[in-house]
Amino acid sequence: MAVELRKTGINVVGDLPWGSHFCYFYETKQDLLDILIPYFKAGLENKEFCLWVISDSELLTVEEATSELRNALPDLDRYMSEQSIEVVGHDEWFLRGKTFDPHTVADRFRKKLNEALARGYAGMRVNGSPAWLNDAGPNELHKFEAELDKLFPGERTIASCTYPLASIGADEIFDVVRTHQFAIARRQGKWEVFETPELIQAKQEVKRLNEELEQRVVERTNDLRVANEELRKEVAERKQAEADLNIRSEQLRALSARLQSAREEEGTRIAREIHDELGSMLTGLKWDLEEINKMLSTPLGQSQPEAVREKLSALSKLTDMSVSTLRRIASELRPSVLDDLGLAAAIEWQAQQFQARTGIVCVCEHCQENVVLSAEQSTAVFRIFQEALTNVLRHARATRVDIKITKDNGFFVLSVKDNGKGITHSEKSGQQSLGLLGMRERAHLIGGEVTISTAEGRGTVVSLRVPLSDGQIV
Ligand SMILES: Nc1ncnc2c1ncn2[C@@H]1O[C@H](COP(=O)(O)OP(=O)(O)OP(=O)(O)O)[C@@H](O)[C@H]1O
Ligand SMILES: [Mg+2]
Repeated sequence: MAVELRKTGINVVGDLPWGSHFCYFYETKQDLLDILIPYFKAGLENKEFCLWVISDSELLTVEEATSELRNALPDLDRYMSEQSIEVVGHDEWFLRGKTFDPHTVADRFRKKLNEALARGYAGMRVNGSPAWLNDAGPNELHKFEAELDKLFPGERTIASCTYPLASIGADEIFDVVRTHQFAIARRQGKWEVFETPELIQAKQEVKRLNEELEQRVVERTNDLRVANEELRKEVAERKQAEADLNIRSEQLRALSARLQSAREEEGTRIAREIHDELGSMLTGLKWDLEEINKMLSTPLGQSQPEAVREKLSALSKLTDMSVSTLRRIASELRPSVLDDLGLAAAIEWQAQQFQARTGIVCVCEHCQENVVLSAEQSTAVFRIFQEALTNVLRHARATRVDIKITKDNGFFVLSVKDNGKGITHSEKSGQQSLGLLGMRERAHLIGGEVTISTAEGRGTVVSLRVPLSDGQIV
């Protein structure tokens, strides 16, 4: 906790914590005013309730004190009317028509303080001049100051006691100094402060606490700065992730639209092929069958078995053509080579077709590896392979493609390396094209992944890894 310091208004004293209780030895009335006017001015300006008790032993009267205050504080009447300050005389405060009793007076101070706090003041600032108690009986002054010393510490009070040097003996000075935290004196125009060991210690403690607090503030500020920095980074990362997610879902939407329209186009094409080719063949078949029927139902037809056989042989050829057309159409729906040959051979066959069609040399390595992938996995791998070859043809300007199938640590690995112009980073992550995205998506659906990198030397490598289950590793 920070120690709350109050301005005393006394230059030589500076700021003090609540609970301070000090004494002041003075020689002249002017010395006294030089201290107490700024002392109360600082109290009033800092919202403290001020109580100035003026004893008969003081070199000053209540009237003089009030008039001096008014000179220094133009607002004094306002302060007085709102009872922010009270200047009270000896009898009124110490006696009230009775004999002096230190406990009663201490209680009076306590009551004043509680009232001030209840009225919203920050605390209470007091000055008193108990020097007259020297004459009230042996030890009376000492007892009273000891009572006050019990009262003030820990309370929201600043208390000073003033003693005229001229009327106080050397013994009493020691007593007075002992019962206060420190003493100030103005002798021959020079200020002096005498501190008790307790106060020196307390001041050191305050200093230490404040330093500790400052250190903690520095550390905490630092922690907050770091936390703030991290938070800012996290927010930026989230924003980036959100933006990436938006781009990705935009791409996926485009991919799905393309697949949809490709599916529709394919359906239209297949329908046309079935209609144009299979339809006309089947119509031809029916026509020929009716011809044969007609021939067999006339005596002339029955007498010409050669003609019937010729028709039947033409019919058989037409049937064969229909079957192979049907197969072709079916294989476009799902590459039949996959079922007929298995994935590795189908890849090799596709590579040969590609080479024959484009003149780009295709070299298959280890393509006979014994790989058993599910139908779904095989189809995905085959389609990815086809898109990789299409990209080589469309973009790479390559003269050779190396295709490798391997098994690596429980993964099926297909790599397609070309010796073309290579692919740039922005092309790899381009948001417009959908081929690479489609490859990645297909791979993802079967638990695998596609990486695209630059080949050693020149060209591009498309590499697909698909995890194999225990049963698939043979
Ligand atoms: N083998 C390759 N060599 C060089 N560049 C390539 C290769 N493969 C792809 N690229 C580059 O990467 C880009 C993205 O390829 P992607 O297959 O995603 O799109 P695309 O082929 O342009 O169009 P589509 O969406 O019809 O497939 C291509 O436009 C091309 O610039
Ligand atoms: Mg492409």
